[in-house]
Amino acid sequence: MTILVNQPHQLIGSQAEGHKDNYDAKELVLDGGFVVPDKNEGFDAPDINAFGNTFRDYNAESERQKSVEEFYRQQHINQTYDFVKKMREEYGKLDKAVMSIWECCELLNDVVDDSDPDLDEPQIQHLLQSAEAIRKDYPNEDWLHLTALIHDLGKVLLLPQFGQLPQWAVVGDTFPLGCAFDEANVHHKYFTDNPDFKNPAYSTKNGIYEEGCGLDNVVISWGHDDYMYLVAKENGTTLPHAALFVIRYHSLYPLHKGGAYKHLMSKEDEEDLKWLHIFNKYDLYSKSKVLVDVDEVKPYYQSLIKKYFQEKLRW
Ligand SMILES: [Fe+2]
Ligand SMILES: [Fe+2]
Repeated sequence: MTILVNQPHQLIGSQAEGHKDNYDAKELVLDGGFVVPDKNEGFDAPDINAFGNTFRDYNAESERQKSVEEFYRQQHINQTYDFVKKMREEYGKLDKAVMSIWECCELLNDVVDDSDPDLDEPQIQHLLQSAEAIRKDYPNEDWLHLTALIHDLGKVLLLPQFGQLPQWAVVGDTFPLGCAFDEANVHHKYFTDNPDFKNPAYSTKNGIYEEGCGLDNVVISWGHDDYMYLVAKENGTTLPHAALFVIRYHSLYPLHKGGAYKHLMSKEDEEDLKWLHIFNKYDLYSKSKVLVDVDEVKPYYQSLIKKYFQEKLRW
């Protein structure tokens, strides 16, 4: 069944004005017969994804469910404290490529994220859908628009020229290492086969950390979050601290959604977390069938890239 729905995201600002006919009050077709309600105030989060399941419903009967569970089994077994240390050292060298932020956005188009039960569009659409939705609701926070655009660029780790890491080392929810695995982690049962699980130094609530030490001092499972954080920071971005926090911890669902591990946070982390909560709403729910016109919005995002980054970055 196919149902016509109203376009949930409209472009804002002068650029959008020039193309009003293309965006205003147009009915769009979503596959699967799921209606996205249309309200004019604020960001409107649909209840179900393009596959007809609740967002992040890991138990939903979907074709992807089994591969998502198998993904988490592998991730929970293989992400160890020592593995993360090795990855941070290797990728901290930033010797894999030299390119601009926009070049990386285009490069990412070939990547499919196996861990995500909601996403079936090219990555650049996810980036632009998130960024455009935030832009509509927070027009003055241009740093947050750019943060949305770049938050997943670290997924290039899946590509051959970046070492072609397995999916479990790039995507999926992240979690702290060096302390006990909290039950808030999705598919928690698979941690029993992680070598760190049997290490007594890592098996208490605080593990090797002190309460309130700050997330900066906590080793988090390796993936696209931490990699993009390293790239942005080491290339001297002028984005605010909250932007780097959002990029680095946006997959840390057991903390920002599950409320676990909060005893490791500092006061500054608490402040930044407010922005992450805002961002997350857009990261999740903008994964829709409504495509953004890339050429249309490109000049705006290139102006932001110029403002906050040098032209060529080391990756
Ligand atoms: Fe992500
Ligand atoms: Fe994302």
